[in-house]
Amino acid sequence: MALTEAARLQPASPALQNGKSALSGMRQTIQGYVKRGLRGGLRNLGYEIHRVPPRRRAGSDGKGEAWISGAARVDPIWPLPRRQGGLSDDQIRAEFAKYDLWHYAYAFEGGLSFSARHHDPGLLADAPERPLQRFRHFMPYLIAANGGCLRGKRVLDIACNSGFWSIQCALLGAEVVGFDGRAELVEQANLVKSIVGIDNVQFRVLDFWSMTPQALGGTFDIVLNLGILYHLTDPLKALELTQRMARECILLDTGVAPAREPVVKLRWEEPSDIRAATRAGIVAFPSESGVDLMLRHIGVARWLKIPRHVADMPLDYLDGTRASWIIKVA
Ligand SMILES: C[S@@+](CC[C@H](N)C(=O)[O-])C[C@H]1O[C@@H](n2cnc3c(N)ncnc32)[C@H](O)[C@@H]1O
Repeated sequence: MALTEAARLQPASPALQNGKSALSGMRQTIQGYVKRGLRGGLRNLGYEIHRVPPRRRAGSDGKGEAWISGAARVDPIWPLPRRQGGLSDDQIRAEFAKYDLWHYAYAFEGGLSFSARHHDPGLLADAPERPLQRFRHFMPYLIAANGGCLRGKRVLDIACNSGFWSIQCALLGAEVVGFDGRAELVEQANLVKSIVGIDNVQFRVLDFWSMTPQALGGTFDIVLNLGILYHLTDPLKALELTQRMARECILLDTGVAPAREPVVKLRWEEPSDIRAATRAGIVAFPSESGVDLMLRHIGVARWLKIPRHVADMPLDYLDGTRASWIIKVA
């Protein structure tokens, strides 16, 4: 063995090793004190520090390969069209006024518009552009993953609220079933459907945990699991149930815990607003890597975390507390 190579392979002397580990131990202790002090101080002021997950390379999926590229821009159909000879402006205003709360702001052809109304109003949730921004973020990927078109696809919209996503998919030519656990939201969805004047969408009152192919007339080409995972107690079971409903593809959009590690954060939720859980109890937020691990566990074929490809995005998608995935089931 050459001398230089032998020297490189020699272990450092015990004294030198001891000195180095003492130094690194001291450094870790000091870092620990500083972190704990800083965290404690901020917590007293009402803040918490979380590690934010690193950005994944755009276009790569849970198995490290690109499988959707170049999703073309798609805009929502907005304002919504109105059925010829349907309700007048005054009749529509009277129907909207029957409900205290509306999750989305609606705009119809002819300049008729309504704002969102919640018990716990928030800048994010009430912004009229929020569903339109979300559409431009994830719908191009759903459409690209389905050969560029939704026409003729059977689509399930889980927790459809007043039907925003169901109606967009129906206007794109899909056969849609939407369900929600709140009867008044299904009434709202039927109202919007009647104003638009389409018949390729049906709405049902159903609890998430009662969702089965038998209850909903079979399985679906596409399942939309949007804004619901973090209102449920068990995200892994919820994803398994969602997978059972889907023949081809799932679009998942959810709030996530801002942690790098695969964790699930628990929170108590009251059914105090139409965007919340339907009953009081624990709801669970997985982190992004937690969602990835769950997708791996349930054995879907492949998946892609939808990259940030549009500049105009709601803040929660930018600060790492919300994310969307396109998932190929088979
Ligand atoms: C934040 S909103 C999301 C609405 C829509 N999916 C979206 O992403 O824009 C949550 C919806 O989930 C519904 N929901 C909550 N818990 C449910 C349950 N156990 N079963 C069915 N729907 C539920 C609520 O009524 C509400 O319409």
